[in-house]
Amino acid sequence: MIETIQWTTEGVVMIDQTRIPAEETYVTCRDYHQVADAIRSMVIRGAPAIGVAAAMGVAIGVAKADPANLDAKVDAICAELAGTRPTAVNLFWAIDRMKKLYGELRHLPHAEISEALIREAILVREEDIAINRAMGQHGAPLIPDGGIVLTHCNAGALATAGYGTALGVIRAAVESGKKIGVYADETRPFLQGARLTVWELQHDGIPATLITDNMAGHFLHAGKIACVVVGADRIAANGDVANKIGTYSVAVLAKENNVPFYVAAPVSTLDLTLADGSGIPIEERAGAEVTHVFGVQVAPTGTDVKNPAFDVTPNRYVTAIITERGVARAPYETSLRELARNGK
Ligand code: MRU
Repeated sequence: MIETIQWTTEGVVMIDQTRIPAEETYVTCRDYHQVADAIRSMVIRGAPAIGVAAAMGVAIGVAKADPANLDAKVDAICAELAGTRPTAVNLFWAIDRMKKLYGELRHLPHAEISEALIREAILVREEDIAINRAMGQHGAPLIPDGGIVLTHCNAGALATAGYGTALGVIRAAVESGKKIGVYADETRPFLQGARLTVWELQHDGIPATLITDNMAGHFLHAGKIACVVVGADRIAANGDVANKIGTYSVAVLAKENNVPFYVAAPVSTLDLTLADGSGIPIEERAGAEVTHVFGVQVAPTGTDVKNPAFDVTPNRYVTAIITERGVARAPYETSLRELARNGK
């Protein structure tokens, strides 16, 4: 099994996703600043995985803090972690969960607070794996046997604590005996599809074919793709979905070609405070990710660059949203609220 992130006595250990597939190396974060740096620099990435990292970041921050003025220190720890990446709501969900627990325990001795927060962060990780397996059970029946599934970015074990969301649905379908192949969009500019999704699928022996992003329309039109399954970074109350840049194009092309477009995401990815996707903050990353490929300059010096890391797919392109509590379909205003209520 791929171990994306773990709590150890040394610190928070993460597989370095900037090095895969060239190397399988691990980074140990020994304080919360290092956890924040790892999130910012994409050593760890993917919405649920950065949620787990943030929870562990709060735990290590409190454990290492001098107990004097702990309330202010917890605020500073949470603020630094929250400032790392703006789009994936799981990050804020995890920080809020840790902060709420701290609020309940703040009158206790420092050692007890810190032990409880460590236990909670480990629980966030364990729950995430269980959630992904449940999502897989709900999603697997939607995947046609013998078909090719197109996916974008990496919504796999590496993007979560384990098993994956979109790739979790694919894994569950394969485990149920279906013969499935995956077409992976390479996902420019950061190449999560080429580097991470293909690596992960090879790891599990699931047939994977790499295509560049601009080939997806060709294969959808040619009738090669049975369905599309992607993850999400934030889903608004009306079912608009923020996910890796390029997802919107795939969704439009899927609808044009009558191919189902599924989104797999945990309930913690829902942001019901936003009526629609227009309020989702979109991270703008460094231009060098576009002008350079692995340090090699591919555009003239001084090129003007735009590099939004995510886009928003309007709900009309989304066939269904697969969660750990079941599958939501339009109208999403009611089906998503219903799912959110189910766990309460
Ligand atoms: O910039 P990244 O690599 O963090 O973006 C990741 C994605 O867009 C994933 O599709 C999303 O977080 C879902 S991961 C289960």
